[in-house]
Amino acid sequence: MKISEPKTWHSTRLKPGADGLTVVGQLGQSLDGQIATATGHSKYINGDGGLVHLHALRAWADVVVIGVGTLIADDPKLTVRMVPGSSPARVVIDPSARSPAAAACLVDESVRRLVLTKPDRARSDWPAGVEQVAFSSLVAGQKFDANQVRQWIASQGWQRVLVEGGAATLAAFLSSGSLDYLHLITSPLILGPGTPGIRSQGVSRLSDSPRFTAETFELGKDLLVECAFQ
Ligand SMILES: NC(=O)c1ccc[n+]([C@@H]2O[C@H](COP(=O)([O-])OP(=O)(O)OC[C@H]3O[C@@H](n4cnc5c(N)ncnc54)[C@H](OP(=O)(O)O)[C@@H]3O)[C@@H](O)[C@H]2O)c1
Repeated sequence: MKISEPKTWHSTRLKPGADGLTVVGQLGQSLDGQIATATGHSKYINGDGGLVHLHALRAWADVVVIGVGTLIADDPKLTVRMVPGSSPARVVIDPSARSPAAAACLVDESVRRLVLTKPDRARSDWPAGVEQVAFSSLVAGQKFDANQVRQWIASQGWQRVLVEGGAATLAAFLSSGSLDYLHLITSPLILGPGTPGIRSQGVSRLSDSPRFTAETFELGKDLLVECAFQ
């Protein structure tokens, strides 16, 4: 199936969960399931079709969430440039507060910028207006509970959430059942051993793995698989 109206497609299609939030995870991957090369290079795996789709997701979202690994590897702007629309607020999950002060998505003052850190990691050199949020809801010792992150996002008044990556951040949301949709955009290239995208605990028998409801869409030469978890 083709998406004829990328800009309005998301708002008519994506439905909120019981808490009123709609949380979409996205990854752009190669045919062999890599989201970056072994050196962390990922700009850009997807072709124009996949990139326009990503920008339309950003335009749909109130807030975009990334992990500090992506901020350091890619220094993304997280703005909407390839479709009409305004850029979403930004949340960086950064427990140890190691985001560089010059990071593009923190420097740009046009939207709200928040960094989630552990309570004892105060930073004073981030650009003016960046909100450091002390987050203490930990699972397995050191990790933030993605479900608690989802609840905190709701408490900020945001309803449409894009979890843009990378792999570790998406894995935390997936494994805790905090995503409503996954948009996996596959492009026709093979990267060899690099940075695997979807990560999970693994199962021993096929019957242990649920089969998700999924639909596929052509994005030019890229293929979008949309999994719905609701
Ligand atoms: N192709 C794509 O669509 C795409 C999209 C985004 C990124 N990427 C690529 O993906 C790579 C980065 O992925 P990544 O998996 O290494 O990094 P990431 O998910 O961006 O960031 C991981 C880091 O964020 C923090 N974090 C995330 N979730 C957390 C949680 N629930 N609790 C506590 N801390 C959490 C941790 O920081 P600490 O280590 O400080 O604890 C963790 O190590 C880069 O190469 C980038 O280019 C590709």
